[in-house]
Amino acid sequence: MSRVKIFNKKQPKPITVNDKEVWICQCGLSADFPFCNGTHHKIQDEPENELYQYDEKLNRKKVKIVEDN
Ligand code: FES
Repeated sequence: MSRVKIFNKKQPKPITVNDKEVWICQCGLSADFPFCNGTHHKIQDEPENELYQYDEKLNRKKVKIVEDN
């Protein structure tokens, strides 16, 4: 079984755990997920309202959206 999860944020979210600030990945590409590892810098040029798929080497492919009527 496979699943697709869409992440639409481009920045991590800071949270505080035991008085220590940690950064939570919101782009979905971090190898240290759920923690940010800086990979989000690679997606900053993504245009809004477009969908991309990334493979494990972070190669990017635009996904064509087909609307079902
Ligand atoms: S927000 Fe995903 S790697 Fe930083």
